[in-house]
Amino acid sequence: MCGIVGYIGKRVAIPILVDGLKKLEYRGYDSAGVAVIDQDKLLVSKSVGKLVALEEELGENYSQSCLGIGHTRWATHGRPSFVNAHPHIDCKQEFAVVHNGIIENYLEIKESLIEKGHQFVSETDTEVLAHLVEEFYDGNLEEAVRKVIGTIRGSYAMVVLSLKDPDKLVAARKDSPMVVGLGEGEFFVASDITAILSYTRKVYILDDGEMVVVTEDGVKITDFQGNPCSKEVYDVKWDAVAAEKGGYEHFMLKEIHEQPKALADTMMSRLKDDRVVLEEVALTPEQLAQINKVYIVACGTAWHAGLVGKTLIERWAHLPVEVDIASEFRYRSPLIDEHTLVVVISQSGETADTLAALREAKNRGAHVFAVTNVVGSTVSREAHDVIFTWAGPEIAVASTKAYITQLEGMVLLGLYLAQIKGTLPQDKITEIITALKKIPEQAKAVLAQESLIKELAQSFVNVEDAFFIGRSLDWAVAMEGALKLKEISYIHAEAYAAGELKHGTLALVTEQTPIIALATQRDVFDKTVSNVKEVKARDARVIGLTYQGNTSLAKSVDHVIYIPETIDELAPLLAVIPLQLLSYYASVARGCDVDKPRNLAKSVTVE
Ligand code: G6P
Repeated sequence: MCGIVGYIGKRVAIPILVDGLKKLEYRGYDSAGVAVIDQDKLLVSKSVGKLVALEEELGENYSQSCLGIGHTRWATHGRPSFVNAHPHIDCKQEFAVVHNGIIENYLEIKESLIEKGHQFVSETDTEVLAHLVEEFYDGNLEEAVRKVIGTIRGSYAMVVLSLKDPDKLVAARKDSPMVVGLGEGEFFVASDITAILSYTRKVYILDDGEMVVVTEDGVKITDFQGNPCSKEVYDVKWDAVAAEKGGYEHFMLKEIHEQPKALADTMMSRLKDDRVVLEEVALTPEQLAQINKVYIVACGTAWHAGLVGKTLIERWAHLPVEVDIASEFRYRSPLIDEHTLVVVISQSGETADTLAALREAKNRGAHVFAVTNVVGSTVSREAHDVIFTWAGPEIAVASTKAYITQLEGMVLLGLYLAQIKGTLPQDKITEIITALKKIPEQAKAVLAQESLIKELAQSFVNVEDAFFIGRSLDWAVAMEGALKLKEISYIHAEAYAAGELKHGTLALVTEQTPIIALATQRDVFDKTVSNVKEVKARDARVIGLTYQGNTSLAKSVDHVIYIPETIDELAPLLAVIPLQLLSYYASVARGCDVDKPRNLAKSVTVE
């Protein structure tokens, strides 16, 4: 949420900052700004709206300074506006600050600073940081930032630029990610590795409670008390091209098409001799024998993956599973202890609520298992065990390839637990693994139906409401389908357990309401068809989704999308793909900004 980038070196900073911000724009995009030190002046440029507005503002005759910071914002405190855009500066225009996170005690600090004569121009919490640096600065920027840290409460990744120290950047991290990129005679700071991937693959990942002073000569990392911290250089494996559009009109479409590869990469090396092998996992059979309950905790799309995980783990490993939204989990005093396994799912590994849930679970003695896409992310470092999803960088706000690999993570975890607990016979495990190995190719076959789905999506141009229905695992996938449609096309969409529709929601169904009916779960197929008939009787237009070879659904619906046959537990991995494409093309047809839907951000690092 919000993106930060900073540069110090021999090259002109502004193009590097803007390039980095472009890569970060998916984190927030209501305004953006940069600040550089140009001879004896602190120059700040900002603009409201997408980054292109900042580029226009900067024009071609921008400063040639080699030191600067930049920010792309997703508003939390204060609406999107010029004055609220970062960087924020102090009264004398000597210090500039960019910040991600929330300063919880900013109001009291602001009041006391105003009493001391400071003048504020914005509604943001961040502005207090610039004035605090001004207040504390006594010839040593690092010390001033340390005093700021001692004054504030909340979460932050911040970078400070000082006119009085035109040879350094000082940054600090607490509960919001921050990395330092190491180049040849040049250094970068960024909230997200993708911002600097075109310049370096070598990074330090700052931990909570660490700050860094970056000069042209090197990087000094200390804790907040000033004690030096030794860190290992982390070599980023993602390549820069993976974070480019590669000929596709939108990242989302590119990422949808990358799913067969992401699925293959995520399972590869984890399937050996018809067994799931998770070499990285420390959970012992003895520990697992003590586990009597599983909680899956996540947000948004990742939560939807958790809903599928619940059925798989319950069905295969015979453990009761609760699925919780991370922002709710910790506030309802969940009944967890050392006999609980808590599984957190997070693409970014940085979502504030998911992270807080992880910490809460650890505090209560639970064993925490993470499923995440980002190596080095806070979630991956704090969980006891991690299954990485190998989806590569996901840029579009609407999650697609990360979701599908999270589903796969649930399959792997479900089987793994079942293997250890001995709750599935080997022939059943073999059957599932054999089916799983076919999924990447089958996903390609689903993608081959793109033009048909594009055509269906054209009828969504003037739609106001849509419902997704399904039973069992289809219901979980329906939720993801509805979320995709609403987040990128702004069509009001809801998912219902098909049997529940008649308890109220059916009243909303008219001939103007498209219904997307998922019918892949064989044990409830007939019941789902009965529910389809109920909506057809209200003249709704129904798009059905089932396995190839199932000819009966076509008799009850207006259109059918077919997916290749697989076992029911794996159907979500294929069924979601047409729903992603449907949302994508509905969004394009309605002229929406597919990759950067209004009001949303890719990584939500505030509560
Ligand atoms: C945001 C994103 C979603 C994502 C959710 C959880 O809302 O827009 O796509 O599912 O955060 O993010 P995480 O990184 O924890 O999976």
